[in-house]
Amino acid sequence: MVIAIDGPAGAGKSTVARAVAGELGFTYLDSGAMYRCVALAALWDGVDVDDGEALGELAERLEIDFDGPRVLLGGRDVSGEIRTPEVSGAASHVSVHPRVRAALVERQRHLIETADYVAEGRDIGTVVSPDSPLKIFLTASDEERARRRAGETGEDVKAVLEAQRQRDARDTEREHGALRAAEDAVALDTTGLGLDEVVARIVALARERGLV
Ligand code: DC
Repeated sequence: MVIAIDGPAGAGKSTVARAVAGELGFTYLDSGAMYRCVALAALWDGVDVDDGEALGELAERLEIDFDGPRVLLGGRDVSGEIRTPEVSGAASHVSVHPRVRAALVERQRHLIETADYVAEGRDIGTVVSPDSPLKIFLTASDEERARRRAGETGEDVKAVLEAQRQRDARDTEREHGALRAAEDAVALDTTGLGLDEVVARIVALARERGLV
């Protein structure tokens, strides 16, 4: 069973999803980390981020594993490397290609079949797990999202805001797996809310729906 948490970059999905999973005893899936791994591998191999077929082939053969909070690519711990601004930018490009998405969606579906998951991304409630009994669409104001991301990476807020606008546009305008709320998703605006409050709301919804 899957609790789906979707929303734009910086809305707090990772922190919230990890905390909800911890609270409920579910496993956490960071689907964005998989797109980041494809982007990192493309940078390593010099594959053009606009070459959908080559990237699709790469996504199909990459070995991506999760070991607790660590992300492993071909057995190597890339947890830090996949978070650089360069990889963030490349991930936003590689994730538009249908063949890349198909390969990663298939892997994500396999993973979530095996246990109870809190999975976060852009298309969990709409594509990966449309039957999810609880879908959350997490948002926050552009400025708050940029402030949070800058706080994590040490970048300038204005630069983050600009890069974020470009990524948002690519995420929402792409043809496949575009960022949008599922019709039956619960929208949760986290602007000005503390982590505990957001987590408590989602846990309460899970209990109301008899999922735990
Ligand atoms: O959530 P994130 O910032 O780690 O995601 C990295 C990139 O991957 C981002 O540009 C959007 C894309 N992504 C996606 O297209 N579909 C997902 N389910 C998760 C992330």
